[in-house]
Amino acid sequence: MKVGVLTGGGDCPGLNAVIRAIVRKAERHYQDSVIGFTDGWSGVLSGNFIPLDVNFMRGSLPRGGTVLGTSRMSPRMFEDGLDKVRATIEATKTDALIVIGGEGTLSAAASVQAAGAACVVAVPKTIDNDIALTEQTFGFDTAVSIATAAIDRLHTTAESHDRVMVVEVMGRHVGHIAIWAGIAGGATLTLIPEHPFDIEAVAATIMRRHRRGRWASIVVVAEGAIPVDGTLEMAEQAVDEFGHKKLGGIGQVIASEIEARTGFDTRVTVLGHVQRGGTPTAFDRVLCSRYGIAAIDAVHQKQWGSMVALQGGKMVTVPLADAVAEVKPVSPDLYEAARAFFA
Ligand code: F6P
Repeated sequence: MKVGVLTGGGDCPGLNAVIRAIVRKAERHYQDSVIGFTDGWSGVLSGNFIPLDVNFMRGSLPRGGTVLGTSRMSPRMFEDGLDKVRATIEATKTDALIVIGGEGTLSAAASVQAAGAACVVAVPKTIDNDIALTEQTFGFDTAVSIATAAIDRLHTTAESHDRVMVVEVMGRHVGHIAIWAGIAGGATLTLIPEHPFDIEAVAATIMRRHRRGRWASIVVVAEGAIPVDGTLEMAEQAVDEFGHKKLGGIGQVIASEIEARTGFDTRVTVLGHVQRGGTPTAFDRVLCSRYGIAAIDAVHQKQWGSMVALQGGKMVTVPLADAVAEVKPVSPDLYEAARAFFA
């Protein structure tokens, strides 16, 4: 078979590990040829691709980023987007397209599959861990490890200066990175979009803690955290060229409010794209390798319109359309576990 691969959306540690696994099994086991479309859907729309083989992928397992490049371009942005996809797939004689991406990229993949423009198998990528029907997306473990290591470092400087440290982490409209890093890093409070915060209650918690003689506090804030309606004025969020809301900035707002309400010296750290860069953890390397193998196996089983997923520790396939129907929030029991450590 001739198999096409693309990586779309924000980059994420482990993308190369997935591509490497696909190429390895495709070439060595199935005798397929593999091409990689460059810069996400953009490569499919414009017909730009590079040949991929085991030799090309050598040394890529621990490398962050993606050898294919990525973008947030989508066929859904153009009236004739699906026709262009169909034309490239026909012109390149691509039998199957493995789409590695997050919510936006995979929603486009579901449309491509529904329109019959390509035979699609999807792989769930994102540090945000917000794709439904899989227990974990790849890249998430690495992002949590980076955020946790940062929180560990902030503890010692917070304690030395008796400061409140606000740490803003990524995650878009869900709080998976925040809640995991908050528990792992021993946060005083973790604010996530699933549970709008009341800034008065946040300040009161920190005041209570200080009265108990705990002078340093760490507040982890998900970039998508929102205040309880009517409690805090928030600035409008800008959108990027792809209509993607640019999140971030909530950490600074919360830090200023805490300082104003408590009088405690407060600093903010925005971890930003550091969470997405560099080498994947061992866990992510294994998960990526399993996802890549499962994806090429699904291609040979002609499981079109499916997404590979981790369920109960096993690799399974699920309907892609169901996986992208809604984002996966933080589970109530995990939030309750985090709450047990608040203050
Ligand atoms: O979806 C991954 C992610 O890193 C989000 O956590 C974050 O909101 C967004 O991408 C940042 O996007 P960009 O790289 O376009 O600034």
